[in-house]
Amino acid sequence: MSTATSNTATEQLLQGQRAVLSLLAEGASLRKTLSSIAHYAEVCTPDMQASILWFEASTGKLRRGGHARLPDAFADTVDGLVPGPMAGSCGTAAFQKSRVVSFDVNTDPVWVAFREFAAVYNIRSAWSTPLLSPADGSLLGVFGMYYPDTRNPSEEDLALVDHFTNLAAIAIERSRHDEALRESERRRHHGLLALTAGMAHELNTPLGVARTASQLLGEEIMLAPDADRFTETLALVQDNLERGLTLLRSFHASVMDQATQDVETNDVLELVTNTVKSLGPVLTAAKLTVQVNSIYPGALLVRCAKVRLVQVVTNLITNAATHAYGPDGGTLDITIGGSLLHSNRAELLFVDHGVGMSEDVAARCADPFFTTARGKSSGLGLFVARHVTESELGGALLLETKPGAGVRWTLLLPMAS
Ligand SMILES: Nc1ncnc2c1ncn2[C@@H]1O[C@H](COP(=O)(O)OP(=O)(O)OP(=O)(O)O)[C@@H](O)[C@H]1O
Ligand SMILES: [Mg+2]
Repeated sequence: MSTATSNTATEQLLQGQRAVLSLLAEGASLRKTLSSIAHYAEVCTPDMQASILWFEASTGKLRRGGHARLPDAFADTVDGLVPGPMAGSCGTAAFQKSRVVSFDVNTDPVWVAFREFAAVYNIRSAWSTPLLSPADGSLLGVFGMYYPDTRNPSEEDLALVDHFTNLAAIAIERSRHDEALRESERRRHHGLLALTAGMAHELNTPLGVARTASQLLGEEIMLAPDADRFTETLALVQDNLERGLTLLRSFHASVMDQATQDVETNDVLELVTNTVKSLGPVLTAAKLTVQVNSIYPGALLVRCAKVRLVQVVTNLITNAATHAYGPDGGTLDITIGGSLLHSNRAELLFVDHGVGMSEDVAARCADPFFTTARGKSSGLGLFVARHVTESELGGALLLETKPGAGVRWTLLLPMAS
């Protein structure tokens, strides 16, 4: 290699490394990061086509990771490949946990079951390197490099492979770590909701009995000659019992039905319109006018448990009714559309023009039991809405707000295919 070429190659390598590290730092998806690694590996090696698979330990299968020059159809076909002693160069490298170099796929026995497949993608030689965890040596994935001609790797090629496999291993390990954290958060939130539901249920009966008893006692006291001595204390008892029961109702409404629900295909416009209708009395009382508008061409469908999506939408609407405006009320605009960034994402906007939230409230509003209406509300509404959106609907709930400038929620959901 000439010095000029070598300088360019080093620059390309560094540029690729910088791009991948910034994707890792910004928390980009695993697929995006691995595809970027595949892209930069290809930039450094003109004739090569790269494919990176990650290993799913729970199923023992290799999963679609990243690719750049290779078409999606290639990735779809190799998705689910089970490592084995004759499973092409990638499946075999994953099985052996050591690099497999197939100089010619037409003669290498590990390719015997995949020769037609290789021909479709113009693959004649293939080098596959397993991605191993630096921590415990376990299999993270495999990095495949495919060429249209027969060849063996040079020292320089191997150095390049090692560079990109290291980056890919970091990306996969990072993603596993993030997923483990998310899973533990999900479990913690679920536990908290189950506990709250259980407590609300258990407290409901004794408090209800106490309220009935206090009413009976009140009737008795009214007949007593010195009734005035007791009425103030009795009013205090009854007032606090009422508050307790109101709070319990609010807890109960927030954490309703933790049981698994049937997943079905829902028309988002219809679901939102019906939810708004069902909240009629709440909206009238708060003088909140809700306008629902779909800008999506045709029916926008999502697959999920209906009651879950209703739960999230209800929370966002009742919050606008409760917190956004004063006694004169105001408006909430709900816009249903598709995401501009992701073609397969439904995007629901909930925009009010009320008091908005301070930076502090915005940061804490979805924490469990956080409320600025203490004593009347449970403060579980947004916590539940976010938990349900992320762990049950596979979506995201994003907030934009400023004091005096209203609240804008973006609810992103995977569209039904
Ligand atoms: N549209 C909004 N405008 C202004 N503030 C809001 C809005 N929505 C939520 N908030 C603020 O976020 C806090 C948390 O909301 P969240 O729905 O979690 O609880 P809550 O409404 O107070 O109680 P709950 O929903 O359990 O009855 C609210 O107390 C309020 O301060
Ligand atoms: Mg609420």
